[in-house]
Amino acid sequence: MTPAQCKTIEAAGTNAHRLASGPGGWVERLGDDVILSYKSDAARDELSAGLTKWCTDSGWQPVRVFHRFMPIKNADRVSPVLHSGDASLPLTTVVTEAGIRYGLDIGASYSHGLFLDQRLNRAKLHALKPRRVLNTFAYTCSFSLVAALAGAETLSVDLSRKSLDRGRHNLALNGVAETKHRFVAEDAAELLPQLAVRGERFDAIILDPPTFSRSKNGRRWQVEDHFEDLLSAALEVAAPKCAILLSTNCTKLDPARLERSARWCAKGKRRTADYVKLPPPVDFPPGHGSSTLWMMLR
Ligand SMILES: C[S@@+](CC[C@H](N)C(=O)[O-])C[C@H]1O[C@@H](n2cnc3c(N)ncnc32)[C@H](O)[C@@H]1O
Repeated sequence: MTPAQCKTIEAAGTNAHRLASGPGGWVERLGDDVILSYKSDAARDELSAGLTKWCTDSGWQPVRVFHRFMPIKNADRVSPVLHSGDASLPLTTVVTEAGIRYGLDIGASYSHGLFLDQRLNRAKLHALKPRRVLNTFAYTCSFSLVAALAGAETLSVDLSRKSLDRGRHNLALNGVAETKHRFVAEDAAELLPQLAVRGERFDAIILDPPTFSRSKNGRRWQVEDHFEDLLSAALEVAAPKCAILLSTNCTKLDPARLERSARWCAKGKRRTADYVKLPPPVDFPPGHGSSTLWMMLR
């Protein structure tokens, strides 16, 4: 992204965004810091040279630069390594997006805590002002946070208790009390039918599952095989006019295939919907970022 585009994003209260994206990796600005994620040494050197030029052109200098090698297998991921800057500074930090504060952990190997490609989807959820929000695969609960700030009550579900605790911390960082917000460390696919039986209904649902997962009882989850089951279960707890965000990093599930699946599930549950695909954020060129689609039930 150009320094001018960066200024526009900053003016909107955001200091967490990509600076560059390429086939061999990407560079993220996270407040005062930068993480350069790379798939090969050649890509690292090219991105690093690009970052140096970007800093010269823009006049902005990061306090720290971290390098993170991205192995082919997610399971082999390692934490970012400090490349330049003060090693005594804490690895936890706070960034802002649209003026909302998010706590990050730069030392984490999976992700620092905020998926930057979801910026426009978070803004849409905030603008929808839903009353009751179900955030499945909630991770650090960024969607719950924006919904809470728009007045919603939320239910955040994730297998990882640690991630949900980070979600709680994100609410606290923004002065939101937990009173209207529930955090449940369960398998989302198992919890959805229980919510339906209990008669719970939601005005917005976030479905952003990982590509692969294993449930508590060892059940293997593969998004392209199970997405339709998940959406069908979500439709059972969707109130009239519910907005459902469908999102995945699985390259086999592009927005066109997501829409086909969604139409098939809607038909099976006798629901009708409009489908809205937002343009990608300016810092995510085609081929970068998740496939996402909003299913707006009628
Ligand atoms: C892609 S991240 C979700 C990102 C999140 N929507 C966001 O924008 O911040 C996937 C999350 O799903 C969680 N997860 C994996 N399998 C799960 C399951 N079966 N049920 C609930 N959560 C699960 C992981 O712990 C992880 O936090």
